[in-house]
Amino acid sequence: STPAAWSQTDSFLADTLIGSDAHLEAALTAQRAAGLPEIEVAPVAGKLLNLLVRISGARRVLEIGTLGGYSTIWLARAVGPEGRVVTVEAEPDNAAVARASIDAAGVGDRVDIRVGRGADVLPSLVGGFDLVFIDADKESNTIYLDWAAKLGHAGTVIVLDNIGREGEIVREDAVDPKVVGTRDGLRMLGEDPRFDATALQTVGVKGWDGFAIAVVV
Ligand code: DHB
Ligand code: MG
Repeated sequence: STPAAWSQTDSFLADTLIGSDAHLEAALTAQRAAGLPEIEVAPVAGKLLNLLVRISGARRVLEIGTLGGYSTIWLARAVGPEGRVVTVEAEPDNAAVARASIDAAGVGDRVDIRVGRGADVLPSLVGGFDLVFIDADKESNTIYLDWAAKLGHAGTVIVLDNIGREGEIVREDAVDPKVVGTRDGLRMLGEDPRFDATALQTVGVKGWDGFAIAVVV
């Protein structure tokens, strides 16, 4: 199979299982118009996040890495009107784009955007999160996993994005800090007794990548 077939199949799955959604499309249009990188989760992955929240019954969700708010909208819809999503974004310009799109999607009242670097913002948060989605600078993955455990509880679901990175994580000589940070995060999920985890590689509109999923023990 080829990356073209992966992408076409992913689009078929999204069209067949998810369909189009005006607010999500508008969030992507706004993100692109503002020049943000096109690295939001694929539609099938956004839907997976939404389903994981609903399957786990999570009501308090923490997202690290808001970007333009696309995944945030998927999460916010899933927590329901009484639920809350706290999302941490280092770039004020990204946060402004996200704020507008999240509000336009009608879920603004359940989303709290905290602007600042994770390492600065996370220590200020009140814990009790039921699900944590980590999708920010890969160099800080171990810091974010540590905070996810501290701000969660036994049973908290953790999803860590971008674990495949085109297979680069198995190159022992990798110097790219994103690759090293990704691998360090996976090793932490394997070794740290606070977590029980697995990971799945994915192919699709974003190429060859994947995500890890863990539970706080
Ligand atoms: C990158 C970051 C992401 O969160 C993603 O999903 C894809 C790529 C990156 O920084 O390269
Ligand atoms: Mg990502």
